[in-house]
Amino acid sequence: MHQSNYGREGFSHITVAGALAHGMKEVEVWLQTFGPGKKTPIHRHSCEEVFVVLKGKGTLLLGSSSFKHPGQPQEIPVFQNSTFTIPVNDPHQVWNSDEHEDLQVLVIISRPPIKIFIYDDWSMPHTAAKLKFPYYWDEDCLSAPKDEL
Ligand SMILES: *[C@@H]1O[C@H](CO)[C@@H](O)[C@H](O)[C@H]1NC(C)=O
Repeated sequence: MHQSNYGREGFSHITVAGALAHGMKEVEVWLQTFGPGKKTPIHRHSCEEVFVVLKGKGTLLLGSSSFKHPGQPQEIPVFQNSTFTIPVNDPHQVWNSDEHEDLQVLVIISRPPIKIFIYDDWSMPHTAAKLKFPYYWDEDCLSAPKDEL
């Protein structure tokens, strides 16, 4: 798939191998780059997710799914060549906390296409998080036949 920032300045996404674009059934692979200071939204999903940091360093902010809302997130440093996994349904945010370098990650998710629930902040109740489906980069592929889930 082509590269785009999907309206987010300092961000780049490429679907390397996708369900809607390439007929993948079990996993999907993305290549994403975050400019200095850039973040994903706070979000959760019920699929598994693995990150491999190809370039740069940053911070993974990880909330909890055990209480009514995500709560004060843990701050987990991530750096080049490290790999991290996101527990299913835990709200999280990837943040390029470096001021100079890009953060580039390879992202592998299970059970595409992804259903992302977005939070305004860490105190928003889980039940109030908003579903964005299909997600922005999957909207590009809507004309492709959809897999039954
Ligand atoms: C990551 O791996 C590459 C290739 O092996 C190496 O050149 C680089 O120094 C490593 N970076 C870190 C921070 O360990």
